[in-house]
Amino acid sequence: MYFYIVVLLSVLSESTKTNCKGEYVQVDPSNAPCVENLQEVTQINSPQILEPICSTMSPKPKGSKRDRNFAGENFLDMPHRYLEPWCRAYNYLFSYIWANDKTVQNALHVREGTIKGWERCNQSFSSSYAHDVRTSLDYHRNLTKKNLRALVYSGDHDMLVPYVGTEEWITSLNLSIDYTWRPWFVNGQVAGYTKAYTRKAYSLTYATVKGAGHAATEYNPRECFPMIDRWLSYYYI
Ligand SMILES: *[C@@H]1O[C@H](CO)[C@@H](O)[C@H](O)[C@H]1NC(C)=O
Ligand SMILES: *[C@@H]1O[C@H](CO)[C@@H](O)[C@H](O)[C@H]1NC(C)=O
Ligand SMILES: *[C@@H]1O[C@H](CO)[C@@H](O)[C@H](O)[C@H]1NC(C)=O
Repeated sequence: MYFYIVVLLSVLSESTKTNCKGEYVQVDPSNAPCVENLQEVTQINSPQILEPICSTMSPKPKGSKRDRNFAGENFLDMPHRYLEPWCRAYNYLFSYIWANDKTVQNALHVREGTIKGWERCNQSFSSSYAHDVRTSLDYHRNLTKKNLRALVYSGDHDMLVPYVGTEEWITSLNLSIDYTWRPWFVNGQVAGYTKAYTRKAYSLTYATVKGAGHAATEYNPRECFPMIDRWLSYYYI
């Protein structure tokens, strides 16, 4: 089954590449094969390509935003929508209960009355800012001139910020290679692949997290915790 999905995805990806000729954002609407391929691609759950898209499982509330389920507002009214088939968003239900608990908020020193209620993704909060940073590459380029260590990790099942893009911007920094691809392990199992770079006093460790989605630490905490722990302790991951 897994093999079948991977083969299908790779056929789709090859035909999308060919038909769209590398242009996936400003698509020529008269290019029907490309438009069709992109429609198929958007039916894949971008944060983790093998997990179900839950928002399409039942009708959305009227006037809802794309991320309404994740954003929260009606979340607690409809947990049943996340139960069958299993949906990742169901896990988020517990974060609402936890973060809105008075004892938790006291322990975290949340000043009483500063917020109405905790939301996982406050969409109105993010829409009150202008989105004008198209890329952070300049910051990374400047950081390579400093005396510091960087760890960059990427879930290899994430289609929102795919690891191939991460590798491309790292490559564009023209760093020297410290060590080249090797697997890294947790409990004797391959947890991902890693490569490291240096330039003078700067070093960058790059790691993929095998099977992880967009927020790799959320999807694969058992692998990510040792990864970060080893890195913080100056061990090879
Ligand atoms: C979400 O953010 C907006 C804008 O900052 C704020 O007015 C609103 O109170 C926030 N919602 C919650 C539930 O905190
Ligand atoms: C990077 O460094 C240059 C030179 O110091 C500076 O002009 C530029 O603003 C920096 N870029 C960012 C994004 O901080
Ligand atoms: C990396 O090398 C390429 C080709 O030599 C060059 O065009 C590019 O500006 C370099 N990038 C950096 C960040 O030095």
